[in-house]
Amino acid sequence: MRGFWIYFATILILFDSNCHAVSPDVQGLPTSIAVGELETANRLIYTITATDADNDAFVCDVSSTVPANGPFVGLKDADTNLYGIYTDNPTFVFATNPVYTVNIECTDTGGSVGTGTLSVDVIEGDALTFNTLPASTTHDASTTLNGASIYTVATTDALGHTTKTYTMTSIPSTTSFTIDAGTGVVTAARDLIHEIYTSIKLYIQVSDGTISAVEVLTVLLTNVNNAPVFTNLPTSIDVLESVASGTLLITLVPDDADPGASLTYTMTVSPIAYASLFSYNTNTQQVTLSNGQNFDYETTIYFNVTFMVSDQYYTNGPFVLDVHVKNDNEPCYFDKTFYSLNTNEGASGSISLNPNFIISDYDGISAYSLTFSTANNSERFTIDASTGVIGFAVDYDIDNGAMASTVILTAVCTDATGETGTTNVEIIIADVNDNAPTFGSASYTLTVDQYTDPGALIGTLLPTDADSGINAEYTCSATTTHLTGGTYYNIGSDCGVYLTATPLGNLDYGTMVRFSVTATDKGATPLSGTTFVDVIFREATPTTTTTTTTTTTESNFFDDPGSLAAFIICVLLGTILLGLLLYMCLRWCVTGSCCGTDPCDFCNWCRGDGRDCCRRKQRRTRKRAVTPETPERPRKPPKDEFEYWKEDDAPQSRAGTKLSRSSHLSRHRDYPDFPQAITPTDISLRPGPRIISPRYY
Ligand SMILES: *[C@@H]1O[C@H](CO)[C@@H](O)[C@H](O)[C@H]1NC(C)=O
Ligand SMILES: *[C@@H]1O[C@H](CO)[C@@H](O)[C@H](O)[C@H]1NC(C)=O
Repeated sequence: MRGFWIYFATILILFDSNCHAVSPDVQGLPTSIAVGELETANRLIYTITATDADNDAFVCDVSSTVPANGPFVGLKDADTNLYGIYTDNPTFVFATNPVYTVNIECTDTGGSVGTGTLSVDVIEGDALTFNTLPASTTHDASTTLNGASIYTVATTDALGHTTKTYTMTSIPSTTSFTIDAGTGVVTAARDLIHEIYTSIKLYIQVSDGTISAVEVLTVLLTNVNNAPVFTNLPTSIDVLESVASGTLLITLVPDDADPGASLTYTMTVSPIAYASLFSYNTNTQQVTLSNGQNFDYETTIYFNVTFMVSDQYYTNGPFVLDVHVKNDNEPCYFDKTFYSLNTNEGASGSISLNPNFIISDYDGISAYSLTFSTANNSERFTIDASTGVIGFAVDYDIDNGAMASTVILTAVCTDATGETGTTNVEIIIADVNDNAPTFGSASYTLTVDQYTDPGALIGTLLPTDADSGINAEYTCSATTTHLTGGTYYNIGSDCGVYLTATPLGNLDYGTMVRFSVTATDKGATPLSGTTFVDVIFREATPTTTTTTTTTTTESNFFDDPGSLAAFIICVLLGTILLGLLLYMCLRWCVTGSCCGTDPCDFCNWCRGDGRDCCRRKQRRTRKRAVTPETPERPRKPPKDEFEYWKEDDAPQSRAGTKLSRSSHLSRHRDYPDFPQAITPTDISLRPGPRIISPRYY
C-alpha cells in the first residue's frame, strides 16, 4: 500500500513538472555556518540564494532534522525580498547538540521543490550583541557633508574577541554611506544633498571571525533633494514603419519638485546602431523620427530608448521609452529602373520578350501582378501578369512610321495589398523586309526625239518600299524583247532610264521599245516589284525658248481635221498651178511662145529668167534631207497607229504636276481612251522629253 502512494505521488510530480519543469535552485550553500551558543535573539544567520529559472514565485522553508525541531526558521525580509535562516528563540546547548543539520526547501507556485542542506555549528560560549542600536537616526540632507558622522555602531563579543569586522549594505541601494570596518563608525560618503531617498535601511553586519550578526539601522533624511523625473515615462508607443521622417513620436514631460532646478537630459538608443533614427530636442522635449530616416519593420521591430535627467545634484534614470515598429503595407519594386529590349516587328502574338524582372517587396515575400500603364500605345503590347514576358497585342508594323520603332512603357507591379512599384521598359522594334518595292503604275511611257542627246537621263523610276532602312533601298534591272531597241536605251540599277545612242536614222519615228523593269530591295530576303517602261522615239518640231510658256492654249494645226483638209487642197491646187506653169515654160523653150501666138509679160519673165525659175521649183519638191534646224515633217504613220509621234504642245509634264484626265483628253481628243495615266509622283523626268500617255500593243 505504501508503495502505491509513492508511485501515485511520483505520477503527480511528473504530471506537475510538465507545467513547471524547473524547480527553484538553492545555490552557493557553504558546508557549514556558525551560531553562538549564547545567542538568544532572533538573528539572521544566513541569507539564502535561490532562483527559479521559470521565474515562478517560490517560498522557502527551513527545518532541522538532526536533531529534529532545532530553533531555526526561514523568513523573508520585506525590504530585500530575500529568504534567510533565522534563529527562533534559541537555547543552544553545545554539550548536547553542537551541530544541527538544516534543510532548506524552496517550493514554487507549481509545487516544484528545490532543496539544500547545510550544517549549523554551535560555537561554545560565543555571542555577538549590538549595543542598543536605535531603530533610526535622522539627518538634514542639505547640510550633511561628505565624511560627516551618521552613527557609531558598538558591539560586544561574549568570548572577548577584540578584532571585530563591520560590513554594511543598504536598502535602497545608495552610495551615501560607508562604515569603518574596524570601528563601526558610519559616515556620509558624499554630501547628502545628492541623496534622493528620505529613508535608507543600513544592514550592518558584525563578525568576530567565527560567528556574525546583522542588525538594521534606518537613516532618515530631511530636506532631501528631489530627483528630477519624466512624469510620462516609462511608456511604450507603437509606430507605423511608414511614418514620415520628422514625425513626432512623443513629447516628454520632465519634472523636478525643487523650485528653480536646472535640468539636463540625455537619450540612449538600443540597439546603438539605430541611434541616428531618433532625435531628441531637449528644449521642446520632442522626440522625433530623424530627418531623412525611416523605420523598417522588416529590419528592426523594437527600440529601447532611454532617457536620463539630471539636476545639479542627481542624475535620474534610465526612463524607458519602448518603441514598437508596426508593419505597414509597402510596395513591390523592380531590381532596375530601366530595361531595354530589342525585337523585330511582327504579327500579334508572334514574339516573346523576357525582361527578366526581379521583383521584390518591402513587406518580404508577397504576391504581385504585372501590367503596363496606359500610355505610349501600351495597348499594342501584352505583358504576362506573373512572368513579365512581353508580346505584341497587335500586328506590329513600323513601316512608314505607322507605329513607333522605339517605345518606352511603364511596367507596374501591384502587390496583394494594392501597393505598386514601377519601372521603365524600352522596346526597340526593328524593321523586317515585309514589303516589296511597288510602282505606282503598271506601265510608264517616256519619249525621246531626235534632239535628245545620247547619254541623257530620260527619266527615273521611283518605286516605293514601305519598309525602313536597307529594307527600303532597291535596285532596278530591266529586259526588253525589242530586238534593236535595247541598243539605244538602258535602264540602270539606279532605276534611271537613259538614252545610250541616238535612234535617229535607225529607228522609225513612232517606234516604241518596251522594257520590263524589276525593282529589288536590299533586304536579307529580297522582295521585288515590276512594271513596264515604254520608250517612244518621236519627231519633235524645232523647239524655241518660249515654247513651253507660249503654246499652252494653241492646238496643233494637224490636230484639226478641217485644217488638214484645207492643207491638202492647197497642196493639190498648188501642184496644178505649178504643172500649168511648167507647161508654159516648156512650150516657150520649144516654140518661143508660151501664151500662144501673143507672148505675154509672164512669158517675158520666163524668157529672161526661166531656167532659174524652173530649177528652183524642181529642187523644192524633191527636198527630203533632215537637218536639226528645220526638221522634216514626219511621214504619215500607218492608218492603224495613233499619232503619238506628233508634237504635244500641251504644257510639259513635270514630276509633281498631276495631269488631269480632262485636260489630257482635250489635248488628245483624237486619241483612244488610254487605260493608264502616268502617275508623276513615282517617276522623275528631265525637262526635255515629254510624257505622252502609255498605250499597250
Ligand atoms: C531598455 O534599456 C534600459 C536601460 O538600458 C534597460 O534597463 C532595459 O532593460 C531595456 N529594456 C529592454 C526591453 O531591453
Ligand atoms: C512615354 O514615352 C516617353 C519617351 O518616349 C517617356 O519619357 C515616358 O515616360 C513614357 N510614358 C510612360 C507612361 O511610360
